[in-house]
Amino acid sequence: PQRLGVLTSGGDCPGVNAVIRGAVLGGTVAHGYEFVGFRDGWRGVLEDDLLPLPRRAVRGISGLGGTILGTSRTNPLSEGGVEAVRGSMRRHRLEGLIAIGGEGTLAAGKALSDQGVNVVGVPKSIDNDLGATDYTFGFDSAVQTATEAIDRLRTTGESHHRCMIAEVMGRNAGWIALHAGMASGAHAILIPEHRVALKQVAAWVTSARDRGRAPLVVVAEAFTPEGQDAPYAPRGLDTFGRPRLGGIGLALERELQQLTGIETRATVLGHIQRGGEPTAFDRVLATRLGMAAVGAAAAGRWGTMVSLRGTEIVNVGLEQALGALKVVPEARYREAAVLFG
Ligand code: F6P
Repeated sequence: PQRLGVLTSGGDCPGVNAVIRGAVLGGTVAHGYEFVGFRDGWRGVLEDDLLPLPRRAVRGISGLGGTILGTSRTNPLSEGGVEAVRGSMRRHRLEGLIAIGGEGTLAAGKALSDQGVNVVGVPKSIDNDLGATDYTFGFDSAVQTATEAIDRLRTTGESHHRCMIAEVMGRNAGWIALHAGMASGAHAILIPEHRVALKQVAAWVTSARDRGRAPLVVVAEAFTPEGQDAPYAPRGLDTFGRPRLGGIGLALERELQQLTGIETRATVLGHIQRGGEPTAFDRVLATRLGMAAVGAAAAGRWGTMVSLRGTEIVNVGLEQALGALKVVPEARYREAAVLFG
């Protein structure tokens, strides 16, 4: 039988295991493929660290958080990387690779595919910031987790008559903040796409308090208030040289308390949003994406990725993942903002 390799690379995200299961089951049943899984993303490919992935290896995993294969941020385009990838595929008689990953992984997949390596990509990110797909799997789960956490902040905030701030992830996009903020009835949602002055935030907070509410602010990690040059306190750089975000919530705690006189507490939700079980929506989306990726491989559509368009899973060129980030349109922000006041 023909053989395919599967790898998961970049930050993990709820639903990755459902993609693996969808690919392995769909590929075994519908196309007669055999599978191997590489450990820790491209590191496993470069270092020949892999395991067989028969049907039984993926039994019951679609609801499991994390990735059974492990992940890393190893870049396969490092010195000698492309040759090592080719060598590994030759040794293990792999016709192609199914690469499940975010922007960095898909960019590497595109570069490999330009050099003749057979790759199909599956886009993954809790941030929902990839333009080529309507929703990324993992986003719904992250929003659900954030919403549950914010609901809890509300009840303690109400008991103490405090202003509560929840800082959520999302990298340079405000999708998680927008959706979790709408779902939990926040009195202010602060996203990087729409800058507002702290005085305005303080006005929303005060007005909520004056209506007898415990003010609730949801802030995306990359939000920068109007009149300031840079995001608050990036915590150094990650392995791709991108700023590690996080910390705005605590800065806001101090500043809003000063501006409003209302006792304020901030919570940084952090990696809790990436962990744990995927929602049913993400399990279904991820399973369909895994199955479609193997379908694309079987049809020889290498150099492509699978993507959600409306309710359909379609196949688009990998380069489409690499365009501009998908950010929150102004109209979506304005719609949510009607509910603040
Ligand atoms: O892209 C997913 C994401 O969770 C972002 O929302 C966040 O900024 C970043 O990854 C955190 O990365 P790390 O896991 O490297 O701390």
